[in-house]
Amino acid sequence: MGMNKRKIVHAVDIKKTYPGDVPTHALNGVSFEVAEGEFVAVMGRSGSGKSTLLHQLSLIDTPTAGRIVLDDIDVLRLSKRQKARFRLERLGYVFQEFALIVEMTVLQNVTLPAIALGSGGDIRAQAIDRLHRVGLKDRIDHYPSALSGGEQQRVAIARALMNQPKILFADEPTANLDSVSAATVLELFLELKTKFDQTIIMVTHEQEDQKYVDRVIWLKDGHIEKIELGGQGQ
Ligand SMILES: Nc1ncnc2c1ncn2[C@@H]1O[C@H](COP(=O)(O)OP(=O)(O)OP(=O)(O)O)[C@@H](O)[C@H]1O
Ligand SMILES: [Mg+2]
Repeated sequence: MGMNKRKIVHAVDIKKTYPGDVPTHALNGVSFEVAEGEFVAVMGRSGSGKSTLLHQLSLIDTPTAGRIVLDDIDVLRLSKRQKARFRLERLGYVFQEFALIVEMTVLQNVTLPAIALGSGGDIRAQAIDRLHRVGLKDRIDHYPSALSGGEQQRVAIARALMNQPKILFADEPTANLDSVSAATVLELFLELKTKFDQTIIMVTHEQEDQKYVDRVIWLKDGHIEKIELGGQGQ
């Protein structure tokens, strides 16, 4: 899918070397494109550079070399302040460990990106809308500790969706979940893609996850080994 759709991600020859006594060449020139509305998995052995790639694409970190165009913006040319704003406005990120604020309710957690952006409108209503999208209708006034792992991850996804990001990133979002909760999260991603044309780039090491995605980018030793169609690809 997505062959005739606008490319929302252009990664061009991305390199990342972590400095040290023995520098680590984590990415050795990675290039690919992602179409709007595509659900892509990044797979490969431990240490192959999957998280490093996601960190560069999501502007958490800065590559040593290369070019990244997201939603038509040449993002590595942005100032630090512009990057922070770009991230808040157009990118969402889901962590393996959920990273919810335990002192805040579910609803308060989900509102955070809108508060950080200083966006107007009815933030509470928007947060409730995002919680409905992830299938959480009750429990919105609970604290994260009162929720199952799968529910906590769905809250984290609702939070990532708060500012209606153009691209949703997720790094092993199901690694801390039981298999039933993991399937729920993957089906949710697929639904976000189908219903809302959400672009999703997900790192995973689970072979079964391939059936949910359009394409799989296989990394090996910091470069692309191959790109294959996933179960949703055609
Ligand atoms: N902050 C860092 N400083 C130095 N080296 C790092 C840093 N982060 C990652 N590395 C190294 O870069 C390489 C790629 O790491 P990365 O975390 O991207 O792999 P990964 O594919 O996500 O692995 P995993 O499946 O275990 O999460 C590894 O050799 C790792 O040790
Ligand atoms: Mg990783």
